[in-house]
Order: sequence, then C-alpha cells, then structure tokens
Amino acid sequence: MSKQVKTDFLIIGSGIAGLTYALKVAAKGKVILITKSDKDESNTKYAQGGIAAVMYSPDSYEKHIQDTLICGDGLCDEEVVRMVITESTARVEELAAWGAQFDRKPDGAYELAKEGGHSEKRILHHKDNTGFEIERALLEEVHKHPSITIYDHHFAIDIITQHHLGVEVNSRTPDIKCYGAYVLNTSTGEVDTVLSKITLMATGGAGHVYATTTNPVIATGDGIAMVYRAKGRVENMEFMQFHPTSLYNPGEHPSFLITEAMRGHGGILKTQDGKEFMHKYDSRKSLAPRDIVARAIDNEMKIRGEDFVYLDCTHLDAEDLKSHFPNIYEKCLSIDIDITKQMIPVVPAAHYLCGGIKVDMKGRSSIERLYAVGECSCTGLHGANRLASNSLLEAVVYAHTASEDSLKVVDTIQHQEGIPDWNAEGTDAPEEMVLIVQSLREVQQIMSNYVGIVRSDLRLKRAMDRLEILWLENEALYKKITVSQKVCELRNIINVAYIIIKHAKERKESVGLHYTADYPAKN
Ligand code: FAD
Ligand code: SIN
Repeated sequence: MSKQVKTDFLIIGSGIAGLTYALKVAAKGKVILITKSDKDESNTKYAQGGIAAVMYSPDSYEKHIQDTLICGDGLCDEEVVRMVITESTARVEELAAWGAQFDRKPDGAYELAKEGGHSEKRILHHKDNTGFEIERALLEEVHKHPSITIYDHHFAIDIITQHHLGVEVNSRTPDIKCYGAYVLNTSTGEVDTVLSKITLMATGGAGHVYATTTNPVIATGDGIAMVYRAKGRVENMEFMQFHPTSLYNPGEHPSFLITEAMRGHGGILKTQDGKEFMHKYDSRKSLAPRDIVARAIDNEMKIRGEDFVYLDCTHLDAEDLKSHFPNIYEKCLSIDIDITKQMIPVVPAAHYLCGGIKVDMKGRSSIERLYAVGECSCTGLHGANRLASNSLLEAVVYAHTASEDSLKVVDTIQHQEGIPDWNAEGTDAPEEMVLIVQSLREVQQIMSNYVGIVRSDLRLKRAMDRLEILWLENEALYKKITVSQKVCELRNIINVAYIIIKHAKERKESVGLHYTADYPAKN
C-alpha cells in the first residue's frame, strides 16, 4: 500500500463478516480488506459447534424465533430476530454454494446438531471445526475475485472523520461521517491513510478484555473502541457471554473450547466428586441456555472452593464421540485426557460479546458511510444473551443486508479531500514493553475479578476506579511513544473495559448475561 490510497470499499477484518461482505460488494467497485494478523486469523476460524439455520420440519422459523427471544431474556428486537431467522436457510445455502462443506447423512440431508436453548436440532456443522471450514471456503472465493485486495498484518488505528479536518465532533453531532481509516503496516511501521467511500467494521469480539477467554489474541475490541472514540453509538456492552465449558488447562491462553454440541450429544456436567448438579438450577439441566449454565458452574465452584467442574462423556459410544469431535478428542489426548474414558475438566471463559456498535437493519452505524457487521456490532438479535450458534448466522445475514444497502449508495459518495496524513511528530520508540504488558494483565484481572459472571455495585465501582488509573497512564504513554499494534490494542481494551463497566453500572437489574448481586431481580 502507498502512503495514501483511495478505494470504494474499505473492509476492516477478515472473519466471516468481512469476507462475506467483500464477496457481495466486489462487483461494484474496488475493495481493500485489511486484517491485523494472518488472513485467516479470526474468531471465525475457531468456531466449533456450527451455524444455526432452519432446514427441515419439524423445525420451523417460528420455533427458532421463539428460542432466540427466550434466550435474549426480553431484550431482543423481535423484528430483527424475525428477519435474521427467516433469512437463515438462504444464507446457509449461499455459504454451501461458495464451497463450505457441512456434514451430511448418508441420504444427503444435512446432519443437524443441537445446542443449549435450541428446541430442535438445527446446527449445521463441519465435524467440530465448522469455523475453520467456513473461513477456508470464503478465503478461497475471495482470492478468486480480481477487485478484492487483502492486506494482512495491517492494523486499523482509528477511523477518519470530520475530527481529522479540525471540526469538533461529539456524541450529539448528527452527521458524523467516516472517510476511511489510518492503517498501520505492522511489518514496516508506516501508517497509511486509506480513503474510502464506504467503510465496513468487521473486527469481531473482545474476549481479551478478560483474563480467561476462548477468543484468539486478535479479539481486542478494536472496532468498538474506534467507533466509540469517533463518538458513534455503542450499546449493550454489559452482556458479555461466558461459555460454560472451556478446557481447564492452567497456563494455556487462550482457553481451548469444549463445544456445547458435546452436551447436545449427551455430555453431562458433574462436580469433582462425580455428582450431577444442573437439575438444581434448571429443568433443561446441562442444556439450559449458557448464562444459566455458566452461573451454575461458577456457583458450584465457589461453594466447593474448586477450580473446575467436569464434563462427562464417558457413557457415550466411544467411536461415535471420536468421529463427531475429532479435534477435541486429539486436543484432550495431548494433555493425557482420553475423553472416551475420562471426564473433561472445564471452566467458564469469556466467549462472545452481545453488545457492540449499534446498527440498524441495514447494518448502518450511527456514523454515516460506516457499516458494522458481525461480533463487533449490536443488531438487536441477541438481546441480553445470544443463543448458541446464532452469531455466524447473524454475520452472514447482516453482511447481506449491509451489502445491499452499500451497493445502492456507493455511487452517490465522493472521496473526502484534504485529509491529513498520520502525524507521528514528537513520539519515540517505546523503551519499556513491560509497561504495556503489565497494564494489559491488570485490566484483564480487574475485569475477571470484578466484572465477570456475578457483579455488584461495589465490584463495579472498584473496577472503574482501578481502570481510571490505567486509562490515564496509557493515554500518556500513547501520546509519547511511536504507534504500535500493542499499545493501540491496550488502548482499545481499556476503552472497551470502560464501556462494559459503564453499561453494567447503568443496568440496575439482573437480566440475561448481566447478573448483579445488588439487583437480583429483572425489572
Ligand atoms: P472475527 O471472525 O473475529 O474476525 C475479525 C477480524 O478482524 C479478524 O480478521 C481480525 O484480525 C480483524 N481485526 C480486528 N481488529 C482489527 C484491526 N484493528 N485492524 C485490522 N483488522 C482487525 N459462533 C457460532 O455461531 N457458532 C459457533 O460454533 C461458534 N463457536 C465459537 C468458538 C470459539 C472458540 C469462539 C472464539 C467463537 C465461537 N463463535 C461461534 C462465535 C463466532 O465465531 C464469532 O462471533 C464470529 O466468528 C465473529 O465473526 P466476525 O467476522 O464478526 O469476527
Ligand atoms: C460452541 O461450539 O459451543 C460454541 C457455539 C457458539 O458459541 O455459538
């Protein structure tokens, strides 16, 4: 890339959201897709269970809609839920047409799995590594397209708005516009100015705000922080979903996920003395929605003073288990656990952010010319709690609606003139990386200890007080040192942690994923 480039579409992120959107807009113009790590590195690549879609009777759109609404605990936008679910069949068939292989039965029909909160079997999957397969198929398709150029190891620092032209912008400014982004080439250290007619934020989640997470290291909430700094609307950030079952393997970071589909397959949660406990919390037992299961595990661990519970699959057919979950079988074997004979130690981990950049039904953010799709967005589908395997679905449906809208308006937009290049004046190379590394650990500890599965006013206040010190220190550091991916990610993590705590403090009730001991009831 040269110092200043112009493109019709700038896409930030190469997971399912960014790649799907790229394929859909490429016929209409030049697409630059930047991604901060390797091309395929994303949350998408690690998705295990699969993608939820209504395929055959006795399942129906209405059943999937009701399951999604129940899981969202009253905070879903029903119109959005209806739109996403009724699009599910078409969008999944499109993925299959692009080459994604979903497991089929001998008669050719899709082999559908069941996960927590689903009343029917409706999860299309590829063994236990569905995301890897989807990412592979989409990247292959994107590589065939002459209008799409992917720049890997390019990190978006900030989106460009009127603010960069010297115009004051605040959260009440009605017409904030996105003109592109400042992008750091992490191989050369150069910062490029990418001017775009339309920008798509597809930067994924923010699991690394917490100390224990299933998310790969790219998940630092960059897009959400960028939009928040640009005064765009960000919502529902208190709803961080903790997956009930990540592999308890001290020292491994990120945590390896043990898919919920294993419980759908018959796996049972047990305490360390081998006793079942989920019947005490919910009639759906091990297959209750995630918030309930994660809270139950958290509670059992705290009462018993233990670091993990078990997922027991030893009663299931061994060959069947190995063939459905080959990666989990291999992974556990690598740490001397044979899942056909031994129970798997598991612990909850930060997994999915339900909140994010507020978008309308066309994927438009509150900032003009800026769309957001995938985990970084907040569409209204998930409400207070996401139904398992609805996120890959949401990403493909919104990539579709956002692309339709983008294609309608792109020709009416001109590139903005007069945007200054990145100003690196007065900064020096960092002398002490320990400042960044240590601050990151501190934020993650604060969030895990005080803003985790169970919250309280006191814990949230303590978290905010501690975070403020780290924020001040990091802002001073950010202004002083040469821009780098690490310092930007820390800045973003601190920004996102701040929004999560702020939104959690504002919600004086317990609903879905947000549980506070001071307001245990739902309003
Ligand atoms: P991602 O796939 O995370 O992609 C984000 C992209 O943005 C990456 O390429 C990243 O490098 C890039 N990026 C981020 N910041 C920047 C920046 N500043 N500059 C440039 N590039 C940037 N959901 C399901 O529906 N079903 C499942 O079975 C399932 N299993 C899961 C298992 C695991 C272990 C995890 C972690 C998640 C799982 N999820 C599942 C959730 C789902 O995978 C994600 O919600 C979804 O893949 C998000 O897609 P995305 O395209 O929005 O973001
Ligand atoms: C899983 O496989 O348990 C993850 C599914 C999801 O996060 O939707």
